[in-house]
Amino acid sequence: MPHILGIESSCDETAAAVVRSGAQMVSNVVFSQIPTHQPYGGVVPELASREHLRAIVPVVRKALADAGQTYQSIDALAVTQGPGLAGSLLVGISYAKALAFALDKPLIAVNHLEGHIHAVLLEERQKGNHELNFPVLALVVSGGHTHLYLAAQEGEAWTYENIGHTRDDAAGEAFDKVAKLLGLGYPGGPVIDRLSSHGDAKAVKFPPAQIKHRDRRDHSKPSRKQDRMDDRPRIDFSYSGIKTAVLRYVETHNLQPSIEARRQALATSVKPTLEDYLAVCDRETLNLVASFQRAMVEDLVEKTLAAARAYDAATLFVTGGVAANNELRKTFEKEAAQEGLPVFFPSRPLSTDNAAMIAAAAYPKFLLKDFAPLNFSAEAGMVLRGAR
Ligand code: KG4
Ligand code: ZN
Repeated sequence: MPHILGIESSCDETAAAVVRSGAQMVSNVVFSQIPTHQPYGGVVPELASREHLRAIVPVVRKALADAGQTYQSIDALAVTQGPGLAGSLLVGISYAKALAFALDKPLIAVNHLEGHIHAVLLEERQKGNHELNFPVLALVVSGGHTHLYLAAQEGEAWTYENIGHTRDDAAGEAFDKVAKLLGLGYPGGPVIDRLSSHGDAKAVKFPPAQIKHRDRRDHSKPSRKQDRMDDRPRIDFSYSGIKTAVLRYVETHNLQPSIEARRQALATSVKPTLEDYLAVCDRETLNLVASFQRAMVEDLVEKTLAAARAYDAATLFVTGGVAANNELRKTFEKEAAQEGLPVFFPSRPLSTDNAAMIAAAAYPKFLLKDFAPLNFSAEAGMVLRGAR
């Protein structure tokens, strides 16, 4: 029963966890840096690296202690190689390398996005659900990504085919930017989630996102000739338009003075409660927030289900920080059920960044002895493709 110690430090959470055989989460420690970044309204990369440096040793020690394990008793280490903030990734990688070298244990490098997908697999196995029908379509929806993958398994090895992604802002980024714009603080997703049920989601109409141009950034696309042979569509997303539409609404409805008052009122509170937020949000703002969330959810669900149909998906995974969103979960559950498509989410603590997902994604690589050389480095823009 191999125990893998996972380490995750790609953004603003320092995390460590122990997972047994890719199927049992034995410990899971997440140290969030939100209070550090909150005054700046977003993640400050230099501060993130510094906080990771401070937290990594105690976080790993706690993960081992909670699991009843020691440095010597674990079988392997796993660490996030990318994508993420280069300086933050380097803290986790340097520490994991040093531990692996000193302990003479294998080290496994994991793609963060693969981790999010394996968060779902880990928890389903933990519940005893080992049956999985392929093809699996996975929507990874977080602060940095809105990506659709077809996931397949050949033997122990997992492969991933990207069939769509955001052309501009990620969905979580749109939640964060809109919350910041409305003076609701950082991170935006959880606040908007909680406030939305207090507003009228039909009050403000947002036009659907228009994607007019072919994606020039995607170098992995097949050549034109191959393109004609492969008529399966790419399903892309775009969320910078809706953010601009919220900004327009703020300007045309003269919301700026009330936003400034809200920002100042909330700045005095370290961890505002729902009542604190409601006390500083008028009806117009609550309606705007609810309408924004509804538009985001409708777009994510509609495009993902269109992809599921086009690629004949047998199972749907929805994972990443935004998968914690209540309305997103409810809408996916309702609409996927109507199409007879089983949909799986991680529990809320495993939707956002954590290290259990990294240890779980490392397990198939452990079985394949797919170990990282000690000279590997952080890959800030790491792409998720086939088996490593
Ligand atoms: O997966 P994650 O922890 O980190 C990245 O890999 O980016 O995702 C963080 C993102 C943030 O943008 C945050 O606002 C969003 O997930 N988020 C949510 C919710 N909880 C976190 N968005 C909508 N509703 C939520 N309940
Ligand atoms: Zn993430």
